[in-house]
Amino acid sequence: MKNILIIGSTGQIGSELTRELRARYGNSHVVAGYIAGAEPKGELLESGPAAIADVTDAQHIGDVVREYKIDTIYNLAALLSVVAESRPRLAWKIGIDGLWKVLEVARENKCAVFTPSSIGSFGADTPHDNTPQDTIQRPRTIYGISKVTTELLSDYYYLKYGVDTRSVRFPGLISYLTLPGGGTTDYAVDIYYSAVRGEKFVCPIAKGTLMDMMYMPDALKAAIHIMEADGSRFIHHNGFNVASMSFDPDTIFRAIKAHKPNFEMEYQVDPLRQSIADSWPNKMDDSCARAEWDWKPDYDLERMTVDMLSHLEQKLA
Ligand code: SER
Repeated sequence: MKNILIIGSTGQIGSELTRELRARYGNSHVVAGYIAGAEPKGELLESGPAAIADVTDAQHIGDVVREYKIDTIYNLAALLSVVAESRPRLAWKIGIDGLWKVLEVARENKCAVFTPSSIGSFGADTPHDNTPQDTIQRPRTIYGISKVTTELLSDYYYLKYGVDTRSVRFPGLISYLTLPGGGTTDYAVDIYYSAVRGEKFVCPIAKGTLMDMMYMPDALKAAIHIMEADGSRFIHHNGFNVASMSFDPDTIFRAIKAHKPNFEMEYQVDPLRQSIADSWPNKMDDSCARAEWDWKPDYDLERMTVDMLSHLEQKLA
């Protein structure tokens, strides 16, 4: 990776990945791609180049790739699971029509491509405990269907055209800088905001519902390391399971309450979110990522909780 384009640089992952990649590769080597209406601001805008890179506009992406001599594209444009259910056609247009355009630009300009998949690529028929790398994937959400297609189409471009596509299946991502929007796992971010604001948290997911989660620094580490890894060791290319922690609402509530003794939570389960959560793994087996590119997370629930609370206390002060 020498010159990198991030499509979706102002989103939950993009805003932090752009910063991290600029620190690693030099500010001028990382272009913050954005769409009209979601322009980068502040440090993101000032620390390096920015360009319109709308995933629905192949011509434009191609122009940016050639202008900045891009060799690696992080394609982070997506609608999350809950919001995608209310706009399925748009979810497909961004997730799959958009991916096709990115892959074509990558093929023409010899770029490597990272397009994240998700725990959402699994379905109710998937083994829920220690979910294997290679197993049944029959999601019923449009988000999941687009993520399975993302994995398959990315593999197709690798096998047919030699495009260096690589990706992971992210768990629910937890971060303090940019909020996620419309995901099933968002509760695990929102709960920290409520705790720091001194408010009671109303949890939309039922007690006992286990899902894989990950702190953003580990997600950034995965996204960067897989693209830097020696591809000759790969057996898989796209959709590596990556895991670091798995918990239910009660467990994260208790972890926070240990630091905020007055914190309270009640349940008001949202049927859509709950049905999606119930179809996702309890905990993924990430041994292929560990074996093929030395994946190893740094954060567990307690370490993440200490870091989240201290950053949000500064941010919300
Ligand atoms: N965080 C995503 C969602 O909830 C899952 O990858 O939609």
